[in-house]
Amino acid sequence: MKKILVTGGLGYIGSHTVVELQKSDFQVIIVDNLSNSSIDVLEGITNISKTPPRFERLDLRLKADVSDFFKRNKDIEGIIHFAASKAVGESVENPLLYYENNLNTLIYLLQECNAYGINNFIFSSSCTVYGEPDSLPITEDAQIKIATSPYGNTKQISEEILKDTCSVSELMAIALRYFNPIGAHETAEIGELPAGVPQNLVPFITQTAAGVRKELSIFGTDYPTEDGSCIRDYIHVVDLARAHVVALQRLLSKNTPAVDNHNYEVFNLGTGRGSSVLEVVNSFEKTTGQKLNYKKVGRRVGDVISVYADTKKANEILGWKTEKTMEEALLSAWKWEQKVRGID
Ligand code: NAD
Ligand code: UFG
Repeated sequence: MKKILVTGGLGYIGSHTVVELQKSDFQVIIVDNLSNSSIDVLEGITNISKTPPRFERLDLRLKADVSDFFKRNKDIEGIIHFAASKAVGESVENPLLYYENNLNTLIYLLQECNAYGINNFIFSSSCTVYGEPDSLPITEDAQIKIATSPYGNTKQISEEILKDTCSVSELMAIALRYFNPIGAHETAEIGELPAGVPQNLVPFITQTAAGVRKELSIFGTDYPTEDGSCIRDYIHVVDLARAHVVALQRLLSKNTPAVDNHNYEVFNLGTGRGSSVLEVVNSFEKTTGQKLNYKKVGRRVGDVISVYADTKKANEILGWKTEKTMEEALLSAWKWEQKVRGID
């Protein structure tokens, strides 16, 4: 069994990916500093897979602790690096926190990869690197726009760091540009646990339906889209998680990445379909039977109008495509919220 390190593996996307890795017979070791997750997630993962993953509490900003961890774990064959801070607004208020947490952690990990000959690395990037796209759907070779937040900038710089490192070492890396992950595991054992007031649409919807929030604000209904609200590519988190396993298998089989890419590849992970905010709200109401309290308000600063993925590269090269529907994702998110809130 190949041993894979999953950083941030108790977080939202990491935990779902750990389950998929275990399903595919990988041995997983999770490190997380619990800054945005709970230790209870370990139990949720174990309830699904019946195999407790190894876990070590580690803050990846502490270089000496990271070195010590690798000294004790020389048999790691691949790394999936989720650990990062991800709140766009917070990154504007506290840029140094974001540059430290999102860049130093990556650099320390790559230094250990060099030291121990760990050559397979998967990185969580974001469609935020595209900014407001010139054409849709967005392909991987679309222009990278100047980042509109320190968070977005950390993803752009991280991609550069990976590309440069791959070009001068044995490292092979895949950066996965996620579109908008939503939903939870069908068992409701794991899901998204936003700290404080949710910034993202679907957790805000489910918390409103659960009565935790009074009403949902629809940010902007005067955009140049069919119904006036913004368009995003919402992808079920389990589909997203599966893509990590496929990408890892691609690296481990040395089937790539192409030499002319200097051992570095990028893939969009989305459904290829754009949905408006109002469509998501309507779909939630229809699928769950829950009436949502919402109001239309002004635009949110920094929102792009419309983004959705061209998924051809991931479909053809990774042989991966999404299988789950928006309805399944919203239903699973609602089931998870009900469990968290103790609603029958
Ligand atoms: P999350 O916050 O749920 O998970 C991240 C995990 O990393 C948390 O468990 C947190 O405790 C841990 N962590 C943070 N800093 C750490 C550190 N210094 N040392 C150890 N552990 C640390 O976030 P997520 O939604 O699962 O996102 C995972 C990755 O995907 C992030 O890199 C994020 O930027 C990226 N991403 C997320 C989205 C999204 O919408 N959720 C979209 C695009 C990209
Ligand atoms: N929205 C609302 N009301 C809310 C929350 C969101 O109307 O309470 C709208 C937003 O205005 C946007 C859409 O719902 O039009 C989606 O918003 P999210 O915050 O869920 O997602 P974003 O597309 O803004 O951001 C996500 C990730 C970021 C990442 C970005 C890349 O959360 O980490 O995609 O585009 F940087």
